[in-house]
Amino acid sequence: MSVIVPNKIINTAKHNKIINENGTSKKLSFLKRISPKNGINALSLSLSSLCSADCIFCPAERGQRISTKFMPFAYVEKIVNEIASRDFSRFHNIEVISVSANGDGFLNKEIIKILRLIKKRGPHIKVVCFTNFRSFTKDKIDIVLREKLIDNIGCNIDGASAENYYQVKRTDYKVVKEHLLYFIKLRRRLWRDVPLLISALTLYDYVYSIRKGLGITPLKTPDIDVSNITDDFELIKQEYMQILDHPKDHILRTPVRGWAERKQINPASINYSQYICPLMDSISRAAFIAPDGTWYACCWDGNNELELGNVIEESVHRVFLSDKRIMLLQYLENREFAKINGPCVTVNCCQALSCN
Ligand SMILES: C[S@@+](CC[C@H](N)C(=O)[O-])C[C@H]1O[C@@H](n2cnc3c(N)ncnc32)[C@H](O)[C@@H]1O
Ligand code: SF4
Ligand code: SF4
Repeated sequence: MSVIVPNKIINTAKHNKIINENGTSKKLSFLKRISPKNGINALSLSLSSLCSADCIFCPAERGQRISTKFMPFAYVEKIVNEIASRDFSRFHNIEVISVSANGDGFLNKEIIKILRLIKKRGPHIKVVCFTNFRSFTKDKIDIVLREKLIDNIGCNIDGASAENYYQVKRTDYKVVKEHLLYFIKLRRRLWRDVPLLISALTLYDYVYSIRKGLGITPLKTPDIDVSNITDDFELIKQEYMQILDHPKDHILRTPVRGWAERKQINPASINYSQYICPLMDSISRAAFIAPDGTWYACCWDGNNELELGNVIEESVHRVFLSDKRIMLLQYLENREFAKINGPCVTVNCCQALSCN
């Protein structure tokens, strides 16, 4: 069963002369029959926009525009009820739900209740979680592993020593490591197959990639003596190679993005023809939901500036079909970043940078 995207939306695009300024009707790749093969396939839920860390690579203004800081259980319940319905599954097939986007989900006091609900209503859905492990405490680790509530975990370890870690994340490595080691130990004891991805974004990598890629000094490291820092990625890797379980676990260098530096960039200086939106594929099928139900553009829209609708006031399906969302995809596809505003005007900050 499939439907064609309502004419209203295609007409809206034509009236605004966005599809083709000369009036010809170029069919955009995302305007096609909606079916579970191209409908929504992933949900990214920001269960908390607050975080116990303050990473140098994370925007200071992240989540500030929206006053609701924790997604209430009732909101998740409404979303989950919709995606578990037969009507919804005629058009969409949610394969993955991420529960710790744009903040740290474990600060949400209802997270265990929420995880249980997701597992109960969508047992086939893969639940993934990126967390700094600061608030993923032993009692929560116990429940999550025993009840198989999460299928994949990611964690950034951004410094080899407590001092280096603190310089990048401004939170206590000792507590984080205690929780992480407890997770690994209990996972072995319970024979749980939950892969762990350790990512590392070191101070050296960040400062030098931002300098080389954007030509600026990171906002949160104004006083850093760059000649004095060395890259500790190999040290982090050596240590965790011994701790992790192979082959299911991995340790990788995180490619640097400049989303925390947008304020320093003058959009007028950007040659947009050089850039594409790096998340186009993911955005065309994933829903990014802020704690108050706002569907925002993508994971590099940290302050939820591009509001496409609200999935609590309307349905997820309706926001998926909304003019705003279709227009966003259209502008992105045509690389008309200046017309979108918000974070897209600094599309150079969304690209993967490297210091080599
Ligand atoms: C936005 S956070 C949310 C989840 C959780 N608070 C955490 O950090 O684990 C998700 C992940 O995005 C990645 N990330 C954040 N800022 C980044 C940046 N400037 N460049 C590259 N990756 C970044 C990090 O791997 C981070 O762990
Ligand atoms: S990257 Fe994650 S852990 Fe670091 S401050 Fe941002 S939300 Fe928190
Ligand atoms: S902020 Fe805009 S250009 Fe950047 S990844 Fe998100 S949608 Fe794409």
